Amino acid sequence: MKIMHVDASAKRERSNSRALSRYFLERLREEGAQFEVDYLDVAIDTPPHVDEAFAIATYTAAQDRTPAMKATLAGSDALCQRLLDADAFVFAMPMYNWSMPSAFKAFIDSITRTGLTYVNADDGRVVGQLSRQKVLFITSRGADLRAGSPYEAMDALTPSLKAAFGFLGVADPTFVDAQPLQFANPEARIEALQRARAELDAVASSWASTPTDSSDETFNALSGVTA
Ligand SMILES: Cc1cc2nc3c(=O)[nH]c(=O)nc-3n(C[C@H](O)[C@H](O)[C@H](O)COP(=O)(O)O)c2cc1C
Repeated sequence: MKIMHVDASAKRERSNSRALSRYFLERLREEGAQFEVDYLDVAIDTPPHVDEAFAIATYTAAQDRTPAMKATLAGSDALCQRLLDADAFVFAMPMYNWSMPSAFKAFIDSITRTGLTYVNADDGRVVGQLSRQKVLFITSRGADLRAGSPYEAMDALTPSLKAAFGFLGVADPTFVDAQPLQFANPEARIEALQRARAELDAVASSWASTPTDSSDETFNALSGVTA
């Protein structure tokens, strides 16, 4: 199994989301899962923001692209291939201003590509190409946005991740949200981390016992289609 592991926090050693994603992979190894990791730190290797050249090139049919357009898309093409080659994803990030870090949004903008990560089928359907992968989102939040909290309605992170990856075929992602980690008393922060680690233990156990399905016929049939 190949796991693509993406961290997105601006913080390094002191980052909770980075610590939790490392913890998850350690637990997965302890559970006996065999895997290799394709690591990407989008806080350092941030994909470029969408500019005019990208916006035009990405919606030009592959056969009509000029060499300049192909060059514009080369980095995004390569990133899409990394996702298509992976069997599972671990995406870890903090909540920034109720949504995702801009570096992770740039990543999404770079990997949402017609003919690569989603395909327009002949019958008009959009077929996301990341349907066979297991997906785990680990998010860290300063406030407590769980159901019943006054901040519950402020969570623009979970729905935006579900929408962006749902379009790419991810039907049932797992979320482990560590909260509250900042705007709370020390006991509540410790409990939040304990709760997150316990949830990650359960996900590690589940991933170790259910291998990814790399022989999905729909995926294989459609993955070679280009726009
Ligand atoms: C620029 C910035 C914006 C933030 N915005 C929010 C927010 O809108 N809601 C929230 O609950 N926490 C917010 N936080 C707090 C972080 O989500 C929280 O500290 C989290 O644990 C950071 O994760 P990390 O340690 O992996 O960087 C923000 C932190 C920063 C630095």
